[in-house]
Amino acid sequence: MASAPTKHSKLLKWVEEIKTLCQPDQIHWCDGSQAEYQILCEQMVKSGAFIRLNPTLRPNSFLARSHASDVARVEDRTYICAKTKDEAGPTNNWTDPEEIKARLTKSYQGCMKGRTLYVIPFSMGPLDSPISKIGIELTDSPYVVTNMEIMTKVGTAVLDKLGTDGEYIPCLHSIGAPLKPGQQDVPWPCEPDPANKYIVHFPETRTIWSYGSGYGGNALLGKKCLALRIASSIARKEGWMAEHMLILSLTSPAGKTYYIAAAFPSACGKTNLAMMQPALPGWTLRCIGDDIAWIRIGEDGRLYAMNPETGFFGVAPGTSTQSNPNALKSVAKNSIFTNVALTPDGDIWWEDMGVPPPAKMIDWEGREWTPDCGRKAAHPNARFTAPASQCPVIDPQWQNPAGVPISAILFGGRRPSTIPLVNEAFSWEHGVFMGSAAGSETTAAALGKAGVLRRDPFAMLPFCGYHMGDYLKHWLSMADRTKRDKLPKVYFVNWFRKSPEGKWLWPGYGENIRVLKWICERVEGTGKAVKTPIGNMPTPDAMDLSGMKLTPEDLKQLLAVDREGWKKEIENIGSYYDTLNPRMPDALRQELKGLQDRLNA
Ligand code: OXD
Ligand code: MN
Repeated sequence: MASAPTKHSKLLKWVEEIKTLCQPDQIHWCDGSQAEYQILCEQMVKSGAFIRLNPTLRPNSFLARSHASDVARVEDRTYICAKTKDEAGPTNNWTDPEEIKARLTKSYQGCMKGRTLYVIPFSMGPLDSPISKIGIELTDSPYVVTNMEIMTKVGTAVLDKLGTDGEYIPCLHSIGAPLKPGQQDVPWPCEPDPANKYIVHFPETRTIWSYGSGYGGNALLGKKCLALRIASSIARKEGWMAEHMLILSLTSPAGKTYYIAAAFPSACGKTNLAMMQPALPGWTLRCIGDDIAWIRIGEDGRLYAMNPETGFFGVAPGTSTQSNPNALKSVAKNSIFTNVALTPDGDIWWEDMGVPPPAKMIDWEGREWTPDCGRKAAHPNARFTAPASQCPVIDPQWQNPAGVPISAILFGGRRPSTIPLVNEAFSWEHGVFMGSAAGSETTAAALGKAGVLRRDPFAMLPFCGYHMGDYLKHWLSMADRTKRDKLPKVYFVNWFRKSPEGKWLWPGYGENIRVLKWICERVEGTGKAVKTPIGNMPTPDAMDLSGMKLTPEDLKQLLAVDREGWKKEIENIGSYYDTLNPRMPDALRQELKGLQDRLNA
């Protein structure tokens, strides 16, 4: 391999092994340059994998349409192959590592025939950060390369940092669609049979094997696979946390800045909150990350959060000038769109974009679409991939290798009933209880039925790389690793509350600043609150609702403690906890019991 731009013998040996196994036509070592990105895009335009969007309207941007079987993360095909099933825990799929390796080795045999094997050296986190992790993704998908180049730091500088013997996380990916000699390629090659798709993690050896899917978190292995599943298992051992959280900064009219991290399940508005335009004058919100936070205890004992990604892989439908004007500005150029609709003038469109659809378009499946055709034009999990640097409100600290000190942690989800607008934990343990009890109606981000309540502790259900009971213990243990007064305050928020008649009670989006402002005031020790059985809640006059149309009845419902609803909730949480036995931490059972006692008092 004379052309390899590295002398890292272990890496060279691995690439050689995979070459022998997968039998690609050629190998390309990615240098991460703009020129390389442009060449790959051009090649994909020629092959039909990309459609170049109108350069005047959407410069340097492309549309990809996936195969209909390959539109979301495949949670039922995602495995944590720890040595024992017990280590992976009841919330993860598990198979014996040796067995699955043998099975997948067969699938990988010759799977890259007729294709190029791309070697992607990437860093999660700034290269100069002591907490960054280097991965090497081997893939036969140029779509993956271009997306990874937006989402992570790719290229020669990463290999330089690795030197001849640095540590990296091997990430093997194939779309599982070899080409016979002369066979015409399709725009989105993949393994069409869902039962043959595999997203496999080996936490003990810190290795990822993905086969059959080219979509999102199944294929861009730096994101969910490395930065959450493998990283969470490393973090547990090393005493830090890898979380499914946005990170934002909020500067008050007085000029004080607060950093907040928030965990919501997939497609519950993390990207919207991460770059929201505050409806209250004088407050400035800036974005540090919209999906993943790596959190460590700093020298001063506080928790510091860092965004390991460099781009946004956001859900397109619902992104509008009302819900997220800054996301729309972020995707104005240099972006990749997957499974959105194509307008006649060569631009993109999706449902709830805030602009009426043209009379005719091409939908995400390449079919002609008219407003009355009865189908959605974009897939509900259609995505944009955009450089974070293009976000108009990107925070100056977003690449700070040390991260930013967190004052408050928020948990949330889509909860039409029972859960109030905002609720503050009494203690760290109570906060961990809140995170552990998080749940949400399911969304289109994963295959399966949408709209069903599922428990999603810390929004990590699909992303925790080890036993969920141990994960809860790990969260509790943070209180032993630093002084309690250094830990952030913890809140549960619910923007999705409905009245019994089904009306949204809270407008959300930019108006959420009113809740965040109260949280900042609580951090300062000035915000007014009343102690309730479920937590500290704002008094009716505590939140700044100036200039907002909210009826006193709606506010009352938003801040009510629904005792009957909570009794059901407690039962449901208790049953969920039972599923994590015998590793369910007792401290959280105590919290549940405490809540029950307070409600019954
Ligand atoms: C994502 C997800 O893509 O959570 O961020 O599904
Ligand atoms: Mn996510």
